[in-house]
Amino acid sequence: MSAPNKSYDPVEVEALKPEEIERMRDEALAAFAAAGDLDALAHAKTAHTGGTSPLALANREIGALPPQAKAAAGKLVGQARGAVSKALAARQAELEAERDARVLVEEAVDVTLPYDRVPAGARHPLTTLMERVSDVFVSMGYEIAEGPEVEAEWFNFDALNFVPDHPARQMQDTFFVRGTTPEGTATEGDESGVVLRTHTSPVQARTLIDREPPVYVVCPGRVYRTDELDATHTPVFHQIELLAVDEGLTMADLKGTLDHMVQALFGSDMKTRLRPNFFPFTEPSAEMDMLCYVCRGESVGNPDRPCRTCGSEGWIELGGCGMVNPKVLVACGVDPEKYSGFAFGFGIERMLMFRHNVEDMRDMVEGDVRFTRPFGMEI
Ligand code: DAH
Repeated sequence: MSAPNKSYDPVEVEALKPEEIERMRDEALAAFAAAGDLDALAHAKTAHTGGTSPLALANREIGALPPQAKAAAGKLVGQARGAVSKALAARQAELEAERDARVLVEEAVDVTLPYDRVPAGARHPLTTLMERVSDVFVSMGYEIAEGPEVEAEWFNFDALNFVPDHPARQMQDTFFVRGTTPEGTATEGDESGVVLRTHTSPVQARTLIDREPPVYVVCPGRVYRTDELDATHTPVFHQIELLAVDEGLTMADLKGTLDHMVQALFGSDMKTRLRPNFFPFTEPSAEMDMLCYVCRGESVGNPDRPCRTCGSEGWIELGGCGMVNPKVLVACGVDPEKYSGFAFGFGIERMLMFRHNVEDMRDMVEGDVRFTRPFGMEI
């Protein structure tokens, strides 16, 4: 019987030979040094410190050694693993510092660059002009009043003294949302007739029903008529309505107000003239012209200086106006013995056309910024 094998030769365990351990350590150090970025280092880390790395496997072999050999082998492997993890931490710190420095350069924000290279939108010239006109009246103490675009036929026509068979009610002018009663007349509160408002004048009636005089309002808004879109017509357009109801108002107040408006918008030498006309909701009614703002009337009788804007008429027709018809005041519950009023309404598209020499109304609705840009980029 042979004696028990008390002697141990560590050389027999290949993975624990000192030169093998050194090789594993050196390979790990070389791999870390070769890792060019943090991703590569993460791979090297798994390969050289992970559970199946050569040093981890060697470490596992120690457990199988006889007790007297464990200490020396443990020291050898422990030192190698310590050196590897130190080298890993150092390379990690180095690569992180490199990355941080690179990010600082690559992702730096140049605060001196212009911030508005994306073109900002701007308001449409129609909106700007509508607000400019409204502002003239607001500065005189008028308030802005608004009404619905889908309007009761009663407000659009009946309250304004349009007789039941007035041509403006016909299908060729008015977009009907819901038809009229068989008799053709709607009464207040009768919802049977609903239209897309054909003018901003119904806001007059709404305002008078809502408020006690004195009333001074300006009503900008969108209106609709069954017109084809062409160079001088559009089925959707904009109007501004003016209404003043107070004690003792006369046509002279209307005239003075209109003069002030055109002077504020077109220059202090501007003036207006009134020509008799008919509107159901004003009595007397007038068509209002303003002096041609291009030739200031100087083209009249002067063939050497023809004016395209006014056709050498000297005047440009702007809108309708008049003294509020007492029938409208009565329909809206205002005492015509005590109060009188004046009203005025005109189209913004037309004003934009002659104020800026726009020859085709379609340009205003097509949304091409090459049209709107010259009007400025007011937001
Ligand atoms: N509403 C009229 C239209 O659209 C314009 C108008 C005329 C308004 C006379 C008024 C006015 O306030 O008094 O043709």
